[in-house]
Amino acid sequence: MPTDSLVTTDSAADADVLLHLLTGAWVAQIRRTTATLNIADHLAHGPATAAEVAERVGSDPRTTYRLMRAVASLGADAAGRAAALRRARSMRSLVMIQNEHAHWQAWERLPDAVRTGRNQMRETHGTDLFGYFGRPENAEEAALFARAMGDLSGLVTQGAVAAVDTTGVTTVVDAGGADGDFVLGLMASNPQLRGQVLELPHAVPGARAEASRRGLADRFEAVEGDFIVEVPPADLYLLKVILHDWSDKSCLTILRNCRTAATDGGRLLVVEMVIGELGKPDFATRVDMDMLTATEGLERDLDEYDALFAASGWRRVKTYPVGGGYSVLELVAAE
Ligand SMILES: C[S@@+](CC[C@H](N)C(=O)[O-])C[C@H]1O[C@@H](n2cnc3c(N)ncnc32)[C@H](O)[C@@H]1O
Repeated sequence: MPTDSLVTTDSAADADVLLHLLTGAWVAQIRRTTATLNIADHLAHGPATAAEVAERVGSDPRTTYRLMRAVASLGADAAGRAAALRRARSMRSLVMIQNEHAHWQAWERLPDAVRTGRNQMRETHGTDLFGYFGRPENAEEAALFARAMGDLSGLVTQGAVAAVDTTGVTTVVDAGGADGDFVLGLMASNPQLRGQVLELPHAVPGARAEASRRGLADRFEAVEGDFIVEVPPADLYLLKVILHDWSDKSCLTILRNCRTAATDGGRLLVVEMVIGELGKPDFATRVDMDMLTATEGLERDLDEYDALFAASGWRRVKTYPVGGGYSVLELVAAE
C-alpha cells in the first residue's frame, strides 16, 4: 500500500467511487452553470432540444448540448433535482452562490486554511466575507447571497415558525436577518408582532422590499447596524445562521449585546446546525469546512453552544429540530 495515500484503489469499483468523489466540485460547477443560464426554466414546460435551449438562453448550441448531456448523466436523481434549479424554485441561488467568486476562491485555499488555522478570505479578497459583499462592485453577488440565505430559510422557517410560541411578544429583532424571512414568517403568524431586521447597509433595501412584497411593511423596520457593537431592545431576538460565522469571542459579544438590550423576560432563538456524533454521517461537518475557508466561524456541538450561552448570561431551555438539518435553540436569561 502506498504510504502517502489515504485511500487505496484495490478494485475497479473503488477507483470508480474515488473518481466520482474527487470530481464532486465539477458537479457543483455543472449545477451552478445550469442554474446561472436558467436552463431548467427553459425545460419547465416540456422537452426541448439543446439547440432550442441554446437559442432561448443565448448560449453556444454545441457546448449547451455537452452541458445538458453531463446533467443527464448525473442520473435520474439528479434530473429530478434539476427542477430545484428553476428560478421560481427553492435552491437555485444557493447552488449558485456556493460556487461563485467569493466562496469558490476561498475553497481553493482550504489547505492553507488548515495549515494556518485561519480562513482565507483576506488572502483571497483582501477583506472578510461581509466586507466583500459590502463592496459596490460585488452588489450583484451580495444580492445573490441574500437570496441564497432565503433559499436556505425556505427549508427551515416553516418548521421554526410552527415551533416557536410568540404569545405575549411585541418586538422581535432578527439580527443579521438578511431579507427577513424568519421575522416576517413569525409576523405573518402573529398579527401582534412588530419586527425589525438589523443588517449591514448593503442588505437593508432587500429586507424592506421583502416586507413590502409580503404586505407587512407597516409593522416592519429594517435598520442599519452592527450586532458586534449593539442591538436594539426587543422581547425576542433571532440569531439565525449567525453564530456559525463568528469566533467564540465575537459570538460572546453578540450574545452579550442581546442579553444587555433584552427586555425583562426576553428570549433569544438561535438557529444553527448542531454537530452530532463523531464519525457518523453529518452534513454539518461539511458546512464547517465552508466556515473554515470563508469566515472566522465554525460549526459547534451542543456542549460548545451551551458554554457560549452560559458565559453570556443565557440558558438553553428548549431545542427542536426544524428541518434542513437545523435546530432552534431557545434561550432565556440565566438568572
Ligand atoms: C449567514 S447570513 C444569515 C442570514 C439570515 N439570518 C438567514 O438565516 O437567512 C449572515 C447575515 O449576517 C449579516 N451580518 C454580517 N455581519 C453583520 C454585523 N456585524 N451586523 C449585522 N449583520 C451582519 C450579513 O449581512 C448576512 O445577511
